[in-house]
Amino acid sequence: MFELNGKNALITGAAGGLGSVIARTLIAQGARVVLTDRSAEGIEALQKELGPNSFTITGDLGDPAIPMKLIKEAEEKLGGGVDILINNAGLTRDGLALRMKDEDWDLVLNVNLSAAFRLSRASLKGMMSRRWGRIINIASVVGVMGNAGQANYAASKGGLIAMSKSFAQEMAPRNVTVNCIAPGFIISPMTDKLNEEQKNKMLANIPLGYLGEGKDVAASIAFLASEEARYITGQTIHVNGGMIMV
Ligand SMILES: NC(=O)c1ccc[n+]([C@@H]2O[C@H](COP(=O)([O-])OP(=O)(O)OC[C@H]3O[C@@H](n4cnc5c(N)ncnc54)[C@H](O)[C@@H]3O)[C@@H](O)[C@H]2O)c1
Repeated sequence: MFELNGKNALITGAAGGLGSVIARTLIAQGARVVLTDRSAEGIEALQKELGPNSFTITGDLGDPAIPMKLIKEAEEKLGGGVDILINNAGLTRDGLALRMKDEDWDLVLNVNLSAAFRLSRASLKGMMSRRWGRIINIASVVGVMGNAGQANYAASKGGLIAMSKSFAQEMAPRNVTVNCIAPGFIISPMTDKLNEEQKNKMLANIPLGYLGEGKDVAASIAFLASEEARYITGQTIHVNGGMIMV
């Protein structure tokens, strides 16, 4: 089940906590994977671990010219088109809306939402002509709930969900599906820094009573990328331990 033999995937933010687990999972399912991130160090180490079915490309997604370049370079390295696009790169610049600087709003929207739009647009032509494609956008529980101090981040993640539904409607006749995963609290360097009290507060809102792991997110991605998920498009899978039920 969920095998991805013969499929080519591109993962943004591949050096990060979730990105690296997603990459390992897609490789294990048989895909060839292009790892991209803004600096070479993390993705090159990961490429060594993953072996000859993986490739690296660096690029800063804050630059609007980069997405098109990334897809072109990925196609060259793969010797074929990108079948599965995982828009995973993301960042935060938190602050109360009243004091939020324009540059913090713009950066978060540019990297989290506009780059995902540009990468999706650049990969669609090939997907349409091959009549097969999967675009999976990593949103967040915050994109549905909102969160004090994260107006920019919440807007970018809510925007990803709405954008995915629009792409899904446009692309359905070409057999390209577009979906989101919305993780809740996933163990990461950020959650490692929280003290006991902060962790307990967080856990009180999670019916399953524990934080998620990268593998919980990656498993849903492997499913959505597979042939078995062919009849699912325009949806958001919430991977959050029951934190919100929508
Ligand atoms: N970890 C969680 O609990 C959680 C929860 C909900 C959503 N998410 C989302 O999951 C995704 C991955 O998160 P993570 O926890 O692995 O974070 P992370 O910080 O470990 O990874 C994010 C990656 O994105 C890359 N990136 C950031 N800005 C970039 C830019 N300008 N150009 C290219 N790459 C850039 C970073 O270098 C990093 O490798 C993000 O979109 C995040 O918003 C995470």
